[in-house]
Amino acid sequence: MVGLGDDAGVYKLGNNTIIETVDVITPVVNDPFTFGAISANNSLSDVYAMGGKPVSALAVAGFPICQYGTDVLVEIMKGAVSSITKAGAFLIGGHSFDDSEIKFGLSVTGIADNDRVLTVRGAQEGDLLLLTQPLGIGILTTALKAGKIDDEGISEAVDWMLTLNDKASAAACTAGASACTDITGFGLLGHALNIAKGSGVDLEIDFTEVPFMDAVSDFAKKGVAPGGAFANLTFFEPLTDFASDITYEEKLMLADPQTSGGLLVSVKEDRISAFENGSLFYRVIGRVVKGSGRIVLK
Ligand code: CO
Ligand code: CO
Ligand code: CO
Repeated sequence: MVGLGDDAGVYKLGNNTIIETVDVITPVVNDPFTFGAISANNSLSDVYAMGGKPVSALAVAGFPICQYGTDVLVEIMKGAVSSITKAGAFLIGGHSFDDSEIKFGLSVTGIADNDRVLTVRGAQEGDLLLLTQPLGIGILTTALKAGKIDDEGISEAVDWMLTLNDKASAAACTAGASACTDITGFGLLGHALNIAKGSGVDLEIDFTEVPFMDAVSDFAKKGVAPGGAFANLTFFEPLTDFASDITYEEKLMLADPQTSGGLLVSVKEDRISAFENGSLFYRVIGRVVKGSGRIVLK
């Protein structure tokens, strides 16, 4: 029912709308329980990005059994179950295999509340663009791997990676969002482009309104960024019109791949109050304008 650039497959089975997705990642933190919880969140997120509710999940685990004890895999699984339980879903099976490095993720099945799923198509001229998490996870986890920060230094990023997109997704549905996606491996630029292309519009983003976590800009200035950020920038720069005062480091920050990132939502200005209830974080970072599938960075 949906196409390329969307966050999950959508299948109509009788009266039900089924949402299916799979995501597998390598460790982004040192603690196995936390990694399992983060990876599960990352996988669940694609169901939320489509406006659905997760129902069941299968675990997919690559594991170097000669290098680590099975207690590590048990901790990863416990972490995953904690996230799945918070999402109100159930782990009902899975598959593991011997691998040269640890890999973990979920295949998640969800349902849409009604027939209406949120996709990357449908963003309307004049809509506001909302981002529900600050950026910088790729840069901070790279700093951790390089030994430039410790587990304490990455705690803000970990808290965000452990934040489910359930409330953000519910707000997007309540607001009657015209388009929605989650920010993951392609960074803000890449995922914003999916909406721009999918909807046949331009997205105008104001750099000064884009939220970043602490120290992200300092690390970017020192050239600390994951390979994916550089690759994303190479790929998406030709599709983006950057204002002349936006620096190379700032471009890298916008292209930084996120693990378990927030939602990017296109919503009518008069429906934004749906996001103002409770403790939900959001920032208005720009607006949808007439165009042909490009990003304009002001
Ligand atoms: Co996604
Ligand atoms: Co995905
Ligand atoms: Co079997």
